[in-house]
Amino acid sequence: MAFKEKIDTDKLPRHIAVIMDGNGRWAKGLGKLRIFGHQNGVKAVRATLEATIEIGVPYLTLYAFSSENWNRPKKEVQALMTLLINSLNKELDTLHKHDIRLNAIGQLDDLPANCRTTLFNAMEATRNHTKCTLTLALSYGSRKEIIHATKAIAEKVKAGTLDVEDITEEEFAKHLYTHDIPDPDLMIRTSGEYRISNYLLWQLAYCELWFTDKMWPEFEKEDLFEAVCSYQKRERRFGKTGDQTD
Ligand code: IPE
Ligand code: IPE
Ligand code: MG
Repeated sequence: MAFKEKIDTDKLPRHIAVIMDGNGRWAKGLGKLRIFGHQNGVKAVRATLEATIEIGVPYLTLYAFSSENWNRPKKEVQALMTLLINSLNKELDTLHKHDIRLNAIGQLDDLPANCRTTLFNAMEATRNHTKCTLTLALSYGSRKEIIHATKAIAEKVKAGTLDVEDITEEEFAKHLYTHDIPDPDLMIRTSGEYRISNYLLWQLAYCELWFTDKMWPEFEKEDLFEAVCSYQKRERRFGKTGDQTD
């Protein structure tokens, strides 16, 4: 039986976050350039988004470019930025068709101007869509995000608009880039790597993690459904005992 048919639609994760990894190695394995892997990774993005919509998960966040990825060869960085612009332009109709709001998190000021313009235009054009929020983590680094939040809070304390006693978890989370989306319930990473790579460190505190050896361009809808099935078998205890959570 296909994984899709095994999914219990009453127990869906509200938010799935993905580390799309392995494009370069996949291409190398075929004797091609790394950029060929990135180009084929776009197909997997489409499949993942479609699968998310099909089962009705309202939040999907994709790690597309990390703050550390700026340290890659200039040619690869440029190719990734061009791919981002082209994909956004190409997929805008799909976002409208499926009622998807585009969102972005990260140090967006560091993106090239043409990239930012395309991104912000697409975000603006889709801002009233409600079925699903697709968040792209771009030039994203979780440690930088936490420092950004800390600075904003420190400024408020300095200005006298926030008391130190009122710095709670909820207050802190309001200053993160993710302030308007819930914490992820399920995090998927491809390519056989078992690490977080500076992704949503605060937000993943109680997230369920799922890993696959498949490289990102090989990722298909059924892989996402398999991850959701695995998620549904788990007992999330949030620090309590199993008896308490029954
Ligand atoms: C993921 O694939 C895409 C980005 C990080 C932009 P990689 O480019 O990291 O591919 P590998 O992990 O080197 O194979
Ligand atoms: C994480 O992948 C970032 C993205 C998927 C955008 P990396 O390939 O950059 O991570 P490391 O270097 O293997 O940890
Ligand atoms: Mg990688």
